[in-house]
Amino acid sequence: MNKMPQKNKPLVSIIMGSQSDYSTMKYAEEVLKNLRIKFEIKIVSAHRTPKRLYNYASKVDGEGIAIIIAGAGGSAHLPGMVAAITTVPVIGVPIESKKLKGLDSLLSIVQMPKGIPVGSVAIGKDGAINAALYAASILAVSDKKIKSKLKQLRSKQTKSVKKKPK
Ligand code: RP5
Repeated sequence: MNKMPQKNKPLVSIIMGSQSDYSTMKYAEEVLKNLRIKFEIKIVSAHRTPKRLYNYASKVDGEGIAIIIAGAGGSAHLPGMVAAITTVPVIGVPIESKKLKGLDSLLSIVQMPKGIPVGSVAIGKDGAINAALYAASILAVSDKKIKSKLKQLRSKQTKSVKKKPK
């Protein structure tokens, strides 16, 4: 059953297929921390821990999570598998793989067949940062504090761009 988000409970769930994905996913974590958005973070592997994946995805809706950010590399089926089990929106972060530089991860995430949508961001660090910013902008639709924090961040970013190169 759907529950309304509760105070002090995480709104965003960051998951990743392996410990090795954390060096990328930590950037999503950092953005959410800066924006003071409550989140949880877990390792859930679609192929190595399929039972953990099923348990996680079948309960996540009832726990008040509004958005899932899922990082995976290679075949990168984690975001799609999670999205198949829950209706909580999933943003997939393609992890840069060693052999194909993350093109495999990107295509696996972005090419979901119709019926089960998964949002995709860029490969690697930029994607992890944007996934968190995107999650924040979705939450900002109904949360004025998050909206104001996002606007501050944008303004700081604009001011940081010098008019002339050094
Ligand atoms: C995927 O396999 C993970 O998402 C990771 O990106 C990739 C490699 O995993 P490790 O071999 O580093 O554990 O499941």
